[in-house]
Order: sequence, then C-alpha cells, then structure tokens
Amino acid sequence: MILSIDGGSENVKAAGENIIDIFPSVIGEYRDRKKKDKHGSSDMEFEINGKRGFAGSLAIVESVFTSTIRGETKAHHYLKIRVLLALHRNCNERNVKIVAGQPISMHTDTEKNKIIVMLKGEHKITVNGVTKEFFIEECVVGLEGAAAYLCIQRPGKIRIIDIGGGTVNLATILNGSFVDKESRTLPFGFNSSADKSKGEHIIQATYNEAYNLGWRSDDEVYFVGGPAETLISKVINYFSNTQVIAPLLDGEMLEPVFGTAVGLLLIGRAVYAKDGQENSGV
Ligand SMILES: Nc1ncnc2c1ncn2[C@@H]1O[C@H](COP(=O)(O)OP(=O)(O)OP(=O)(O)O)[C@@H](O)[C@H]1O
Ligand SMILES: [Mg+2]
Repeated sequence: MILSIDGGSENVKAAGENIIDIFPSVIGEYRDRKKKDKHGSSDMEFEINGKRGFAGSLAIVESVFTSTIRGETKAHHYLKIRVLLALHRNCNERNVKIVAGQPISMHTDTEKNKIIVMLKGEHKITVNGVTKEFFIEECVVGLEGAAAYLCIQRPGKIRIIDIGGGTVNLATILNGSFVDKESRTLPFGFNSSADKSKGEHIIQATYNEAYNLGWRSDDEVYFVGGPAETLISKVINYFSNTQVIAPLLDGEMLEPVFGTAVGLLLIGRAVYAKDGQENSGV
C-alpha cells in the first residue's frame, strides 16, 4: 500500500486509499501514571527500539518535556517517530511504500537522502499495547507546499503559499514544473508568535519575501496549510487573485490543511505506478 505523510511541526497529516488522518505532532517523555484517563482522540503511548514516549493528545497533557523541531528540514528523528505513528494508526499491511514531505529550501539531495536512509527498511513500533512491524519498501521525498500543485494542475505560472505552524513554503510552478529561483521556505509560521495580530504580520512578511522572489500582487496564487481558511481574507489584500485549495482525494473534498499530504499521495501513485521512476517536478 501507499501512504503519504506530511510530518509537519504542528500536525502530522497522512493520506492513502480510504485514509485521511491528522494528529498533533507533539512528542514527549513517558511517565508512569497512577490512573490512565483519556485526553483526546490521538492519545498514544509508544515504544520504538526499547524507548518509550507519549505522543499526540496524551503528550500534550501528560508529558512534561514536550518538544518538537520546527524549521527548514525534516531530516531529524522526530520525523521518523511521526512517520511510524502514522503507519501504526493507518496501516495493517507490513509492506508499505511511502511519500514524505520536505520544506522547499532544504530539498537538496543530501537532505532527501538522509530522510530516505532513515525511513527505508524494517521498523517495529508498539502503540497503546499493539505491536506492528513494517517494511518500508520505497520512500520518495516531495516538496511541501509545491506538492499541492497536483491537486489543481493548472497551466501557466502559478504560485502556492503553504502556511504551517513553523514555516511558510512559497512555491512557483510553471506549466507543471517547479521553479526553484522563485520558491523558498520562510523560517516562521502561524505558531512563531503568540501575538493576537500575528496573522497580519505573517501575511505582510510573507508578501515581502514573495515580492523579493519576483511574485506580484495579481499573480495566480493558491493557498494551503492549517490557517489557510483563517488567513485568506488577509492574503487577498496582498495577492488579489488568491484561492484556498480544497484538495480532492478520490472524490472527497478535504480541508486545506491536507493540501501537501494529498499532493504527496498523488506523486506517490504516479511514481510507484512507474516502478519507482520519479516523474514529477514537484
Ligand atoms: N482550521 C484549522 N485546521 C487546522 N489548523 C488550523 C486551522 N486554523 C488555524 N490552524 C493553525 O494551523 C497551524 C497548523 O498548520 P499545519 O498543520 O499546516 O502546520 P504544519 O504542517 O504542522 O507545520 P509546518 O509546515 O510549519 O511544519 C496551527 O498553528 C493551527 O493553529
Ligand atoms: Mg506543513
């Protein structure tokens, strides 16, 4: 089976055939609990290679030392835990082919290979007492934000803004091909500030950086990521021709937070149908 995993710093999003999943990326230490109450729909007590921890809604409430790595690369061990949790939640088959996301600015061969080496092969994970073994046969790494192009597939030059918890991805696609020169990852996101007017600041800063890359206010812009619906009214003031992408997965219309995950899945379906030969620019 094929599963795409957009292991964001705020939420992990996964997509596959009849699968759509989202859970908080929070990972924390294991603690013995006197009474094991439920705290949310994503309570996860996990064990990987003898190391125990809490994840999701359980980590938010019961771990003391929760942490995450936000930033421009996903080549770190938190991504591995996020991916294995997503597999455990969604896969009952041992052999899987996955597609993972990486921010645009660090989408280099070196960083991609680090992710592939870390994820391919045998894994064992126990979540809430259930042990599963997986063999990740193949792993493709796609571009966060830009992958959402697969959900729209428009000709000409289009821009994609993907605002997440810790980053903003700015992607430019020209007739289906990624334009590196006019694309970047910005090192801030919706959770970089607790300020009530943060939305305005993020959009202003995003516009400035995009302008410096050559974007202009009447460009054709598409908007994805968790805060897309919340921030669209502000984005329109800077990029008047912007619409939120509501990704379609096998006929079902989803929220914009799933833009990258659905795009990555569509890349995976195309790549794996061609026996592992990468054929997509994004
Ligand atoms: N309707 C919504 N659904 C989900 N998230 C939302 C919504 N509205 C606002 N948000 C905000 O979106 C952010 C998470 O967005 P998203 O899941 O795209 O980030 P991420 O992909 O985990 O982060 P990054 O891409 O920076 O690694 C949170 O800060 C959340 O508060
Ligand atoms: Mg994201």
